[in-house]
Amino acid sequence: MKQTDLEKLLADMSLKEKVDQMLQLSGAFYLGDENSVLTGPANDMGIGKEDLEMAGSILGAAGADTMKKLQDDYMAKQPHHIPMLFMMDVIHGMKTIFPAPLAQGATFDPELSGECASAAAKEASAAGLHVTFSPMVDLVRDARWGRVVESTGEDPYLNSRFSEAIVKGFQGDDLKTPGKVASCIKHFAGYGGAVAGRDYNTVELSEHTFREFYLPAYKAGIDAGAAMVMTSFNTINGVPASTNKWLMRDILRGEMGFDGVLISDFAAILETVAHRSSKDAADAAKKALEAGVDIDMMTSVYAANLCRLVEEGEVDEHLIDECCLRILELKNKLGLFENPYKDADAEKEKAYNLCPEHRALAKKAAEESFVLLKNDGVLPLDTAKKIAFVGPYTNNHEIKSSWSFTGDSKDCVTIQEAAEKVFDASRTTYAEGCPVIGNDVELIGFTETTPKKYSEEELAAMEQSALQAAKEADLVVMPMGEHYLQSGEATSRAMIDVPEIQMELFRKVLAVNPNVVVVLFNGRPLDLREISAKAKAILEVWFPGTEGGSAVVDVLTGKKNPSGHLPMSFPYCVGQAPVSYNEYSTGRPNLPGMKERFRSKYLDIPNAPLYPFGYGLSYTTFAVSDVVLDQNEMDKNGRIAAKVTVKNTGDAAGCEVVQLYIRDDYSDVVRPVKELKGFRKVELAPGEEQEVTFYITEEDLRYYRLDGTFGSEPGTFTVMIGNSSTTENSAVFTLK
Ligand code: GLC
Repeated sequence: MKQTDLEKLLADMSLKEKVDQMLQLSGAFYLGDENSVLTGPANDMGIGKEDLEMAGSILGAAGADTMKKLQDDYMAKQPHHIPMLFMMDVIHGMKTIFPAPLAQGATFDPELSGECASAAAKEASAAGLHVTFSPMVDLVRDARWGRVVESTGEDPYLNSRFSEAIVKGFQGDDLKTPGKVASCIKHFAGYGGAVAGRDYNTVELSEHTFREFYLPAYKAGIDAGAAMVMTSFNTINGVPASTNKWLMRDILRGEMGFDGVLISDFAAILETVAHRSSKDAADAAKKALEAGVDIDMMTSVYAANLCRLVEEGEVDEHLIDECCLRILELKNKLGLFENPYKDADAEKEKAYNLCPEHRALAKKAAEESFVLLKNDGVLPLDTAKKIAFVGPYTNNHEIKSSWSFTGDSKDCVTIQEAAEKVFDASRTTYAEGCPVIGNDVELIGFTETTPKKYSEEELAAMEQSALQAAKEADLVVMPMGEHYLQSGEATSRAMIDVPEIQMELFRKVLAVNPNVVVVLFNGRPLDLREISAKAKAILEVWFPGTEGGSAVVDVLTGKKNPSGHLPMSFPYCVGQAPVSYNEYSTGRPNLPGMKERFRSKYLDIPNAPLYPFGYGLSYTTFAVSDVVLDQNEMDKNGRIAAKVTVKNTGDAAGCEVVQLYIRDDYSDVVRPVKELKGFRKVELAPGEEQEVTFYITEEDLRYYRLDGTFGSEPGTFTVMIGNSSTTENSAVFTLK
């Protein structure tokens, strides 16, 4: 439809029609018995039959035939037969589930994540979906926060590269393209900074920190063309994001130039009443509208109040026109006025879901996401040895992570299922050993199946057979870790330990066999002090998705050399959280070797995390040469080439992630001790070497200066290039 026709349509719509375009309801309201809904949950919410029929969008329903029928039924009821938008959380896969986003961050391969998003978009669009609420690009530093699993980590530069790649993977260059869906960047903004890592908690950030660290990845996704943005639950400067005019009008739409659709998070507008910053629902509606929030997700705040507020002169109808037009424009960009079904196609849905190509991609992404944290030489496994797999993730299908409800765990490949195809059955045993969590761990309010409770006898029998297997083996592989319900939304943990029941098993296995390799399943950095001290090797596999087990076996046996690097620091213990590599120096830095008292440090633990950002081992070794600069100074229009030579000094082919960090040696506003400004994955055969060159320009040196402007300052800068954020392999240049 032409823009002029859209504007004509808008002009012809009643106020109620326009307001209802700004309403999003759950698919459950449309797929069940309408009367029970209208007398039940809809009625409780103040949603009437007219709202149900005229709602502009639906979340959480999918299925080609289902969505085509739903579109037919409700377009027929629409006075102007406006097609509905169908949205869903396709975060890291639809039916084929790719590794959790935090795992994808560990690949340091944004393009690969773009491919995963593209595959997810094919499956989602064939299922009749138009929009996905992904990627989540919240910067995270606190392992207590359960939603770190949905992010790509602690670094603004890395998160920005993933943000743009995933948006392009979902959207392509034209939303009408078959197999593409609109991408919704979330949660705007700063949600990952929740105080004490407690979900939905207050966010207290200086504007400087907010702009320097938390905003860049949202901007990168918007610059990549994200069609939608979702508000966050938290406050910024004491104002909830969904009613925060400064955040939404000045920053999002003004500075960042976002002109797409802004949707609230689930009930987030109404929740400003609970924040006690809105007097009542009507006040919340007024404030959110004035902040420019276009769609109210799953409440009647807009639908039940905006018409009256216009009629009473409380709000200008043109604000509603603006919102409604943006929603119509998104429908138009998706081609829904010409083809309301877009790509819904039951045959394609069947053909794409879990197809070999998508499974192969899921396995590749999983393999590249694994981080070898420790290896005293016991990996890759010698498959001629007797090996016991002992642990609750030995044959566990629940490896999809949170936000993967569209997928089915039974489609996941477990470690045992994959190992049985590779390991000699006469020399390999498998035992669960214990459940993922003990009977003492309560996961309250979860709609998913709550974990089975075991009797003392059952637990004793599981343990006994596991210890017997461990005793008879040359080496024990222990697939263990968090329960998948212990990470994701509303799963903050004050203790970031591997569940105690598993640590008890770990200790008992060690008592009968010191050769233990831990394969760790988790959605957040955990306190790994004991495992790190006692295991011979640790392979971090996060929640690897549909092909997780086959990827783990390929890496354990050396068919695939691990190349993942940490996108988020693993704290020494929870008392160190939040922790990140790009901290400020402070006036009393506690430098290595210092023995003084009055330094910025703890009495009882080191400042350094147990495993730092950017860290990851390989089955081979790499040498990185000194940094060579092609010149030692440049002006604002110049660029400096910083080069190293990377050599595979081991006897296995492998891939190294070469990372470029820059330190501003002096600035009017304190700057991080170093910042990631580039990375490159380099595949090398044994003995092979390759030059890696990074080009540094003045743009890489910009920051929010004392006067609040974004720019650089003349001075010296230290360039560091290595394979982890701890590198001090450096050279210095001057910006004139
Ligand atoms: C949830 C989440 C958000 C998700 C939305 C819709 O509360 O915060 O990430 O997209 O609701 O399911």
